[in-house]
Amino acid sequence: MAKLALKGGKPIRDKPFPKWPVFDERELEALRRALESGVWGVRGSLQRELEKKFASYQHAKFGVSVTSGTAALEVSLRALGIGCGNEVIIPPYTFMATATSVLYVNAIPVFADIDPETYTIDPKSVESLITDKTKAILPVHIAGRPADMDALLSIAKKNDLYIIEDACQAWGSEWRGRRVGAIGDIGAFSFQSSKNITCGEGGMIVTNDEDLYVKAWSLHNCGRSPRGSWYEHILPGGNYRMTEFQAAILLVQLERLDEQTERRMDNARYLDDKLSKIDGIKPLKRDERVTRNSYHLYIFRYDPEAFGGASKERFAEAMRAEGIPVSIGYSRPLYKEEYLKYFSKCPLSCPYYGRKIDYSKVKLPNTERACYIEGLWLTQNMLLGSREDMDDIVSAIEKIQENVDELGE
Ligand SMILES: Cc1ncc(COP(=O)(O)O)c(C=O)c1O
Repeated sequence: MAKLALKGGKPIRDKPFPKWPVFDERELEALRRALESGVWGVRGSLQRELEKKFASYQHAKFGVSVTSGTAALEVSLRALGIGCGNEVIIPPYTFMATATSVLYVNAIPVFADIDPETYTIDPKSVESLITDKTKAILPVHIAGRPADMDALLSIAKKNDLYIIEDACQAWGSEWRGRRVGAIGDIGAFSFQSSKNITCGEGGMIVTNDEDLYVKAWSLHNCGRSPRGSWYEHILPGGNYRMTEFQAAILLVQLERLDEQTERRMDNARYLDDKLSKIDGIKPLKRDERVTRNSYHLYIFRYDPEAFGGASKERFAEAMRAEGIPVSIGYSRPLYKEEYLKYFSKCPLSCPYYGRKIDYSKVKLPNTERACYIEGLWLTQNMLLGSREDMDDIVSAIEKIQENVDELGE
């Protein structure tokens, strides 16, 4: 009789992991108050309160609330004056908005490889790609794990480059005690529905630079000036404003974030310890300089050799059959995706750029290994579970390994 649930055996568990998003009476009450206030948008007091609280939470002086993480990235790039003819170095193991935000402002994304042990952008790869066109580095704090900000800040300083932090997965994450977002020049956060703090859709820009703050504020608010009159337009801005309903929900969600982050970190430590004992499973490397990790995702590395050569897709399928929703995560590097062809004229062949970029020649082995062979994800809500929930994850992997002969397709 088959043991693996994939082949008709009894699954390790049949109960769900904690659901996401979570809310209680406090969100309902906050929404009711926002409705009754009669101020539903155009920079009400809740948006301003959220900007102050969230910026301070991230150890930043200024915050600008926006409609999404994508908008936060795009406005940040525009605020820095990045555009035609500029290159921005980014990692390819990330959500597509990291690349499209650069393309939306008519700049060129240049892909650097990731570190095979941490999956964050590899500073050595960044350094090798700097040209006279490079204007900025856009590291992603992937899954909540800060990129190597010491190395990146030093490269940026030496080469006179800006740093835009894609912190869309990293609320409260810390690099040597400093919260991410405003360690570089400017940073972007997302509050989309899968995120650890959410209002359905939303985003935030943080910075310590007052001039950048004024520009980002203006760009998100139809080009207005924070000190100007209503129909005065100092920059070519758009409407990227958050509503009061989103801000009302986020102010309550923020109150839960510390306790939830502690729980995720505690469970992640437990999984690191247990999973590192399984042949063919490697958690990402711990770096002592990462003093806090939001664990938007728990990423671990899978070696098919230790599982009879089964692909990560097949392994994930077997895990899901056991009642453990494992995701294969990013399964293609961003430089291999079809969306790029829509930018082939502008900006990729832009006369202001004066060079021709050919992404078909890009080959970054660590990223390709992560996408095609080894990177697997558990989502943040699973890390809010109990020790027994974590033990089920471990037991399912062990069970699959013990019955590897049943894994064949
Ligand atoms: C790394 C990263 N960057 C950018 C974004 C874009 O955020 P949003 O979905 O809020 O536009 C996301 C969200 O999925 C993300 O994970």
